[in-house]
Amino acid sequence: MKGLINHDDIAKVLLSEEQIKQRILELGAELRRDYANVEGEIVLICILKGAVMFFADLARAMDLNLQMEFMGISSYGNERRTSGIVRITKDIDTSITGKHVIIAEDILDSGLTLSYLVKMLEGRGPNSVRIVAFAIKDIPGHTPAIQPDYVGTHVPNEFIVGYGLDYAERYRNLPYIGVLKPGVYTK
Ligand code: IMP
Ligand code: MG
Repeated sequence: MKGLINHDDIAKVLLSEEQIKQRILELGAELRRDYANVEGEIVLICILKGAVMFFADLARAMDLNLQMEFMGISSYGNERRTSGIVRITKDIDTSITGKHVIIAEDILDSGLTLSYLVKMLEGRGPNSVRIVAFAIKDIPGHTPAIQPDYVGTHVPNEFIVGYGLDYAERYRNLPYIGVLKPGVYTK
């Protein structure tokens, strides 16, 4: 694995860099409006690694007085599916007791990862917990285990990469999001 990203691995661009920027500004404004007058600390938590681009852009677009924290989780499963059994590999560095927590996640598929995380964080006595997901997968006939409070974009039930989202740790640094050609992961 070397050289440049092969953009031909992407079957279809779902959101361009410009469209992502625009959407993040809108989401940021929505969060700013909702949180501008809350009492107490706000903690924005980045779920590593997928949410890293989204988190960095959103934090600047929100323009709120907040703490930025990072959480690493690993969910058992294969490279394309989660099992819902989540292990914390890196915990946040601060107490969230009495604080307003906003979880920034890259994509919500089955929702199992987030529903586990929310339960775990709620056990620490925060004032509130909300989820902001950059993307949510629309799966016909399927309701995710948890609904995000804020959603950046809806994506089809395909494998998405870019803007933090990976396939086998690659494509995270694509500036846009797109559908990965099935040939790339079936070969
Ligand atoms: P869930 O627990 O099924 O909602 O899966 C959520 C996690 O699986 C996300 O945080 C991603 O890391 C990963 N994931 C789910 N769908 C995709 C995808 O289409 N592309 C890349 N990662 C995905
Ligand atoms: Mg992943």
